Amino acid sequence: MNTQDKVLLLGAGGMLGAAVFEVATQRYEHVLATDIDVNEPWLVYQDFRDLFSLKKLFDEFAPTVVFHLGALTDLEYCEQNPEDSWATNALGPENTALLAESRGITMVYVSTAGIFGGEQEFYADFDMPLPTSHYAKSKYYGECFVERKMSKYFIFRAGWMMGGGPKKDKKFVNKIFKQIQGGAKELFVVADKLGTPTYTKDFANGMFRVLETGHYGLYNQVCGGSCSRLDVAKEFVRLLGLEDDVKVTEVGSDYWKEEYFAPRPYSEKLVNMKLEWRGINYMRDWKVCLAEYAQNFREILGSRQ
Ligand SMILES: NC(=O)c1ccc[n+]([C@@H]2O[C@H](COP(=O)([O-])OP(=O)(O)OC[C@H]3O[C@@H](n4cnc5c(N)ncnc54)[C@H](OP(=O)(O)O)[C@@H]3O)[C@@H](O)[C@H]2O)c1
Repeated sequence: MNTQDKVLLLGAGGMLGAAVFEVATQRYEHVLATDIDVNEPWLVYQDFRDLFSLKKLFDEFAPTVVFHLGALTDLEYCEQNPEDSWATNALGPENTALLAESRGITMVYVSTAGIFGGEQEFYADFDMPLPTSHYAKSKYYGECFVERKMSKYFIFRAGWMMGGGPKKDKKFVNKIFKQIQGGAKELFVVADKLGTPTYTKDFANGMFRVLETGHYGLYNQVCGGSCSRLDVAKEFVRLLGLEDDVKVTEVGSDYWKEEYFAPRPYSEKLVNMKLEWRGINYMRDWKVCLAEYAQNFREILGSRQ
Protein backbone atom coordinates (compact mmCIF):
# COMPACT_ATOMS: atom_id res chain seq x y z
CA MET A 1 0.00 0.00 0.00
CA ASN A 2 1.15 3.56 -0.66
CA THR A 3 -0.58 6.93 -0.50
CA GLN A 4 -1.52 6.60 -4.18
CA ASP A 5 -3.66 3.53 -3.51
CA LYS A 6 -7.34 3.93 -4.33
CA VAL A 7 -9.55 2.87 -1.45
CA LEU A 8 -13.19 1.92 -2.02
CA LEU A 9 -15.50 1.63 1.02
CA LEU A 10 -18.78 -0.27 0.62
CA GLY A 11 -21.48 0.15 3.28
CA ALA A 12 -19.63 3.04 4.94
CA GLY A 13 -22.66 4.95 6.23
CA GLY A 14 -22.88 3.13 9.55
CA MET A 15 -21.16 3.15 12.93
CA LEU A 16 -17.97 1.49 11.72
CA GLY A 17 -17.93 3.30 8.36
CA ALA A 18 -17.55 6.71 10.03
CA ALA A 19 -14.33 5.60 11.75
CA VAL A 20 -13.00 3.81 8.67
CA PHE A 21 -13.61 6.87 6.49
CA GLU A 22 -11.74 9.07 8.97
CA VAL A 23 -8.69 6.80 9.10
CA ALA A 24 -8.75 6.15 5.33
CA THR A 25 -8.75 9.83 4.42
CA GLN A 26 -5.91 10.50 6.86
CA ARG A 27 -3.76 7.84 5.18
CA TYR A 28 -4.81 7.90 1.50
CA GLU A 29 -5.53 10.57 -1.10
CA HIS A 30 -8.10 8.62 -3.08
CA VAL A 31 -11.01 7.35 -1.00
CA LEU A 32 -14.52 6.70 -2.28
CA ALA A 33 -17.14 5.91 0.37
CA THR A 34 -20.52 4.42 -0.55
CA ASP A 35 -23.72 3.17 1.09
CA ILE A 36 -27.42 2.79 0.37
CA ASP A 37 -28.03 5.22 3.24
CA VAL A 38 -26.43 8.43 1.97
CA ASN A 39 -26.37 10.17 5.36
CA GLU A 40 -23.13 12.17 4.91
CA PRO A 41 -21.93 14.58 2.22
CA TRP A 42 -18.90 12.30 1.64
CA LEU A 43 -21.06 9.28 0.76
CA VAL A 44 -22.31 8.25 -2.67
CA TYR A 45 -25.06 5.75 -3.34
CA GLN A 46 -24.09 2.15 -4.06
CA ASP A 47 -26.03 -1.02 -3.32
CA PHE A 48 -23.48 -3.85 -3.21
CA ARG A 49 -26.19 -6.44 -3.87
CA ASP A 50 -26.42 -5.07 -7.42
CA LEU A 51 -23.54 -6.77 -9.24
CA PHE A 52 -24.08 -4.81 -12.44
CA SER A 53 -23.81 -1.34 -10.91
CA LEU A 54 -21.04 -2.49 -8.56
CA LYS A 55 -19.01 -3.63 -11.57
CA LYS A 56 -19.53 -0.21 -13.15
CA LEU A 57 -18.23 1.43 -9.96
CA PHE A 58 -15.15 -0.83 -9.96
CA ASP A 59 -14.54 0.02 -13.65
CA GLU A 60 -14.87 3.76 -13.10
CA PHE A 61 -13.04 4.20 -9.77
CA ALA A 62 -10.51 1.37 -10.35
CA PRO A 63 -9.85 0.70 -6.63
CA THR A 64 -6.66 -1.00 -5.51
CA VAL A 65 -8.24 -2.07 -2.23
CA VAL A 66 -11.90 -2.52 -1.31
CA PHE A 67 -13.39 -2.63 2.20
CA HIS A 68 -16.69 -4.48 2.44
CA LEU A 69 -18.13 -2.95 5.63
CA GLY A 70 -21.89 -2.93 5.13
CA ALA A 71 -24.37 -5.46 6.42
CA LEU A 72 -27.78 -5.80 7.98
CA THR A 73 -26.79 -5.93 11.63
CA ASP A 74 -30.15 -6.09 13.41
CA LEU A 75 -30.39 -9.75 14.42
CA GLU A 76 -34.16 -9.66 14.94
CA TYR A 77 -34.73 -8.05 11.54
CA CYS A 78 -32.50 -10.71 9.93
CA GLU A 79 -34.39 -13.49 11.69
CA GLN A 80 -37.70 -12.16 10.39
CA ASN A 81 -36.37 -11.28 6.93
CA PRO A 82 -34.01 -14.09 6.04
CA GLU A 83 -34.07 -13.39 2.30
CA ASP A 84 -32.98 -9.79 2.79
CA SER A 85 -30.39 -10.92 5.29
CA TRP A 86 -28.83 -13.45 2.89
CA ALA A 87 -29.01 -11.11 -0.11
CA THR A 88 -27.16 -8.43 1.87
CA ASN A 89 -24.83 -10.31 4.20
CA ALA A 90 -23.93 -13.24 1.92
CA LEU A 91 -24.53 -12.22 -1.70
CA GLY A 92 -23.12 -8.74 -1.01
CA PRO A 93 -19.60 -9.85 -0.03
CA GLU A 94 -19.74 -12.53 -2.73
CA ASN A 95 -20.28 -9.80 -5.35
CA THR A 96 -17.42 -7.74 -3.95
CA ALA A 97 -15.10 -10.75 -3.79
CA LEU A 98 -15.83 -11.75 -7.40
CA LEU A 99 -15.02 -8.27 -8.69
CA ALA A 100 -11.96 -7.81 -6.47
CA GLU A 101 -10.49 -11.21 -7.34
CA SER A 102 -10.99 -10.75 -11.09
CA ARG A 103 -8.99 -7.50 -10.85
CA GLY A 104 -6.32 -8.92 -8.51
CA ILE A 105 -7.03 -6.34 -5.83
CA THR A 106 -7.16 -6.73 -2.05
CA MET A 107 -10.47 -7.14 -0.25
CA VAL A 108 -11.10 -6.43 3.42
CA TYR A 109 -14.21 -8.06 4.88
CA VAL A 110 -15.61 -7.36 8.33
CA SER A 111 -17.09 -10.33 10.13
CA THR A 112 -18.46 -10.91 13.59
CA ALA A 113 -17.83 -12.78 16.83
CA GLY A 114 -21.47 -13.84 16.51
CA ILE A 115 -20.45 -16.68 14.16
CA PHE A 116 -19.49 -18.70 17.24
CA GLY A 117 -22.09 -20.60 19.17
CA GLY A 118 -20.58 -23.44 21.12
CA GLU A 119 -19.91 -24.07 24.77
CA GLN A 120 -16.56 -22.31 24.98
CA GLU A 121 -16.05 -19.04 26.79
CA PHE A 122 -13.20 -17.75 24.57
CA TYR A 123 -12.75 -18.19 20.83
CA ALA A 124 -9.41 -17.82 19.06
CA ASP A 125 -8.97 -17.24 15.32
CA PHE A 126 -8.68 -20.99 14.65
CA ASP A 127 -11.75 -22.15 16.55
CA MET A 128 -14.58 -23.70 14.59
CA PRO A 129 -17.56 -21.38 13.97
CA LEU A 130 -21.06 -22.56 14.80
CA PRO A 131 -23.45 -19.84 13.61
CA THR A 132 -27.01 -20.13 14.90
CA SER A 133 -28.99 -17.10 13.61
CA HIS A 134 -29.65 -15.95 10.03
CA TYR A 135 -27.40 -12.97 10.71
CA ALA A 136 -24.51 -15.15 11.90
CA LYS A 137 -24.98 -17.77 9.18
CA SER A 138 -25.08 -15.22 6.38
CA LYS A 139 -22.02 -13.38 7.76
CA TYR A 140 -20.16 -16.69 8.03
CA TYR A 141 -21.05 -17.50 4.43
CA GLY A 142 -19.35 -14.20 3.50
CA GLU A 143 -16.20 -15.26 5.40
CA CYS A 144 -16.12 -18.66 3.70
CA PHE A 145 -16.58 -17.23 0.21
CA VAL A 146 -13.82 -14.67 0.69
CA GLU A 147 -11.44 -17.29 2.15
CA ARG A 148 -12.07 -19.86 -0.55
CA LYS A 149 -12.15 -17.66 -3.62
CA MET A 150 -9.67 -14.90 -2.92
CA SER A 151 -5.90 -14.76 -2.88
CA LYS A 152 -5.44 -11.28 -1.40
CA TYR A 153 -7.87 -10.81 1.46
CA PHE A 154 -8.24 -9.79 5.07
CA ILE A 155 -11.11 -10.85 7.30
CA PHE A 156 -11.40 -8.99 10.59
CA ARG A 157 -13.85 -10.29 13.18
CA ALA A 158 -15.32 -7.67 15.49
CA GLY A 159 -17.11 -8.18 18.81
CA TRP A 160 -19.70 -5.90 20.43
CA MET A 161 -19.23 -2.78 18.35
CA MET A 162 -19.25 0.60 20.05
CA GLY A 163 -18.77 3.78 18.05
CA GLY A 164 -20.42 6.26 15.75
CA GLY A 165 -21.81 8.37 18.62
CA PRO A 166 -25.44 9.14 19.46
CA LYS A 167 -26.30 9.73 15.79
CA LYS A 168 -25.05 6.45 14.29
CA ASP A 169 -24.62 3.94 17.10
CA LYS A 170 -27.38 1.34 16.71
CA LYS A 171 -26.07 -0.96 19.38
CA PHE A 172 -25.88 -1.54 23.12
CA VAL A 173 -24.19 1.63 24.39
CA ASN A 174 -26.59 3.93 22.57
CA LYS A 175 -29.57 1.79 23.54
CA ILE A 176 -28.58 2.26 27.17
CA PHE A 177 -28.03 5.98 26.58
CA LYS A 178 -31.45 6.42 24.98
CA GLN A 179 -33.10 4.84 28.01
CA ILE A 180 -31.22 7.25 30.29
CA GLN A 181 -32.08 10.21 28.07
CA GLY A 182 -35.71 9.10 28.21
CA GLY A 183 -35.60 9.43 32.00
CA ALA A 184 -35.07 5.80 33.04
CA LYS A 185 -33.95 5.50 36.67
CA GLU A 186 -33.47 1.74 36.50
CA LEU A 187 -31.88 -0.31 33.71
CA PHE A 188 -32.45 -4.06 33.41
CA VAL A 189 -29.35 -5.63 31.90
CA VAL A 190 -28.36 -9.23 31.25
CA ALA A 191 -25.36 -10.77 32.95
CA ASP A 192 -25.56 -14.08 31.09
CA LYS A 193 -24.29 -12.80 27.73
CA LEU A 194 -20.53 -12.45 27.47
CA GLY A 195 -18.40 -10.77 24.83
CA THR A 196 -15.61 -8.41 23.90
CA PRO A 197 -16.45 -4.77 23.14
CA THR A 198 -14.83 -3.43 19.98
CA TYR A 199 -14.26 0.31 19.60
CA THR A 200 -14.74 1.38 15.99
CA LYS A 201 -11.81 3.85 16.11
CA ASP A 202 -9.35 1.19 17.27
CA PHE A 203 -10.82 -1.37 14.89
CA ALA A 204 -10.51 0.96 11.87
CA ASN A 205 -6.98 1.97 12.81
CA GLY A 206 -6.03 -1.68 13.34
CA MET A 207 -7.44 -2.76 9.97
CA PHE A 208 -5.31 -0.25 8.07
CA ARG A 209 -2.15 -1.00 10.03
CA VAL A 210 -2.54 -4.75 9.56
CA LEU A 211 -3.44 -4.26 5.88
CA GLU A 212 -0.22 -2.33 5.38
CA THR A 213 1.85 -5.27 6.70
CA GLY A 214 0.67 -7.37 3.74
CA HIS A 215 0.09 -10.34 6.10
CA TYR A 216 -3.12 -11.51 4.46
CA GLY A 217 -5.60 -13.72 6.28
CA LEU A 218 -8.27 -13.93 8.95
CA TYR A 219 -7.93 -12.11 12.27
CA ASN A 220 -9.98 -11.74 15.42
CA GLN A 221 -9.73 -8.06 16.30
CA VAL A 222 -11.46 -6.95 19.50
CA CYS A 223 -10.61 -4.72 22.45
CA GLY A 224 -8.57 -6.08 25.33
CA GLY A 225 -10.42 -7.63 28.26
CA SER A 226 -13.88 -9.12 28.20
CA CYS A 227 -17.14 -8.68 30.06
CA SER A 228 -20.88 -9.18 30.27
CA ARG A 229 -23.50 -6.74 29.05
CA LEU A 230 -24.09 -5.88 32.70
CA ASP A 231 -20.42 -4.89 33.14
CA VAL A 232 -20.63 -2.56 30.12
CA ALA A 233 -23.82 -0.91 31.36
CA LYS A 234 -22.43 -0.37 34.87
CA GLU A 235 -19.18 1.07 33.55
CA PHE A 236 -21.01 3.35 31.11
CA VAL A 237 -23.35 4.69 33.82
CA ARG A 238 -20.31 5.30 36.05
CA LEU A 239 -18.50 7.14 33.25
CA LEU A 240 -21.56 9.36 32.78
CA GLY A 241 -21.37 10.19 36.50
CA LEU A 242 -24.86 8.79 37.07
CA GLU A 243 -24.20 5.86 39.42
CA ASP A 244 -26.22 7.53 42.20
CA ASP A 245 -29.13 8.36 39.87
CA VAL A 246 -29.50 5.31 37.64
CA LYS A 247 -29.68 1.80 39.08
CA VAL A 248 -28.39 -1.07 36.94
CA THR A 249 -30.28 -4.25 37.80
CA GLU A 250 -29.09 -7.69 36.76
CA VAL A 251 -31.52 -9.87 34.83
CA GLY A 252 -31.28 -13.08 32.80
CA SER A 253 -31.77 -13.26 29.01
CA ASP A 254 -35.33 -14.48 29.59
CA TYR A 255 -36.26 -10.99 30.73
CA TRP A 256 -35.73 -9.66 27.19
CA LYS A 257 -36.81 -12.75 25.27
CA GLU A 258 -39.74 -11.01 23.53
CA GLU A 259 -37.61 -8.14 22.20
CA TYR A 260 -34.40 -10.07 21.51
CA PHE A 261 -35.67 -13.37 20.17
CA ALA A 262 -32.86 -14.17 17.69
CA PRO A 263 -30.51 -16.92 18.90
CA ARG A 264 -27.35 -15.55 20.49
CA PRO A 265 -24.39 -17.46 21.91
CA TYR A 266 -23.84 -17.45 25.67
CA SER A 267 -20.31 -16.24 25.02
CA GLU A 268 -18.84 -14.56 21.98
CA LYS A 269 -15.60 -13.52 23.62
CA LEU A 270 -12.77 -13.39 21.10
CA VAL A 271 -9.03 -13.62 21.62
CA ASN A 272 -6.75 -11.76 19.18
CA MET A 273 -4.35 -14.69 19.05
CA LYS A 274 -2.92 -14.16 15.56
CA LEU A 275 -2.54 -10.40 15.98
CA GLU A 276 -0.67 -11.04 19.25
CA TRP A 277 1.59 -13.70 17.76
CA ARG A 278 2.51 -11.41 14.87
CA GLY A 279 2.99 -8.36 17.11
CA ILE A 280 0.30 -6.35 15.32
CA ASN A 281 -2.47 -6.08 17.91
CA TYR A 282 -3.38 -2.37 18.03
CA MET A 283 -6.55 -2.72 20.11
CA ARG A 284 -6.74 -1.02 23.52
CA ASP A 285 -8.59 -2.28 26.59
CA TRP A 286 -12.38 -1.96 26.37
CA LYS A 287 -12.62 0.21 29.49
CA VAL A 288 -10.09 2.69 28.11
CA CYS A 289 -12.05 2.82 24.85
CA LEU A 290 -15.43 3.13 26.56
CA ALA A 291 -14.09 6.04 28.65
CA GLU A 292 -13.06 7.81 25.43
CA TYR A 293 -16.32 6.97 23.70
CA ALA A 294 -18.51 8.00 26.66
CA GLN A 295 -17.32 11.60 26.31
CA ASN A 296 -19.61 11.97 23.26
CA PHE A 297 -22.59 11.11 25.45
CA ARG A 298 -21.45 13.11 28.48
CA GLU A 299 -21.33 16.23 26.33
CA ILE A 300 -24.99 15.77 25.36
CA LEU A 301 -26.09 15.30 28.96
CA GLY A 302 -23.94 18.28 30.00
CA SER A 303 -25.43 20.57 27.38
CA ARG A 304 -28.95 19.78 28.64
CA GLN A 305 -28.31 20.66 32.26
N1 LIG B 1 -22.61 -3.61 15.09
C1 LIG B 1 -21.99 -4.62 15.67
O1 LIG B 1 -22.13 -4.84 16.88
C2 LIG B 1 -21.07 -5.52 14.85
C3 LIG B 1 -20.37 -6.52 15.52
C4 LIG B 1 -19.52 -7.32 14.79
C5 LIG B 1 -19.38 -7.14 13.44
N2 LIG B 1 -20.09 -6.19 12.80
C6 LIG B 1 -19.91 -6.02 11.36
O2 LIG B 1 -19.30 -4.76 11.16
C7 LIG B 1 -19.71 -4.25 9.89
C8 LIG B 1 -20.16 -2.81 10.05
O3 LIG B 1 -21.31 -2.80 10.85
P1 LIG B 1 -21.85 -1.51 11.59
O4 LIG B 1 -21.84 -1.80 13.02
O5 LIG B 1 -21.15 -0.29 11.06
O6 LIG B 1 -23.37 -1.54 11.09
P2 LIG B 1 -24.30 -0.35 10.63
O7 LIG B 1 -24.10 0.83 11.52
O8 LIG B 1 -25.66 -0.94 10.50
O9 LIG B 1 -23.73 0.02 9.18
C9 LIG B 1 -23.89 -0.81 8.08
C10 LIG B 1 -24.19 0.04 6.89
O10 LIG B 1 -24.33 -0.83 5.74
C11 LIG B 1 -25.44 -0.33 4.99
N3 LIG B 1 -25.95 -1.32 4.07
C12 LIG B 1 -26.86 -2.30 4.31
N4 LIG B 1 -27.16 -2.95 3.16
C13 LIG B 1 -26.39 -2.39 2.19
C14 LIG B 1 -26.27 -2.62 0.79
N5 LIG B 1 -26.98 -3.57 0.19
N6 LIG B 1 -25.42 -1.86 0.08
C15 LIG B 1 -24.71 -0.88 0.69
N7 LIG B 1 -24.79 -0.59 2.01
C16 LIG B 1 -25.63 -1.34 2.76
C17 LIG B 1 -26.41 0.04 6.07
O11 LIG B 1 -27.47 0.83 5.55
P3 LIG B 1 -28.91 0.74 6.29
O12 LIG B 1 -28.71 1.37 7.64
O13 LIG B 1 -29.81 1.52 5.39
O14 LIG B 1 -29.25 -0.72 6.38
C18 LIG B 1 -25.52 0.80 7.02
O15 LIG B 1 -25.36 2.15 6.65
C19 LIG B 1 -20.78 -5.19 9.38
O16 LIG B 1 -20.21 -6.04 8.41
C20 LIG B 1 -21.20 -5.98 10.59
O17 LIG B 1 -21.67 -7.27 10.27
C21 LIG B 1 -20.93 -5.34 13.49
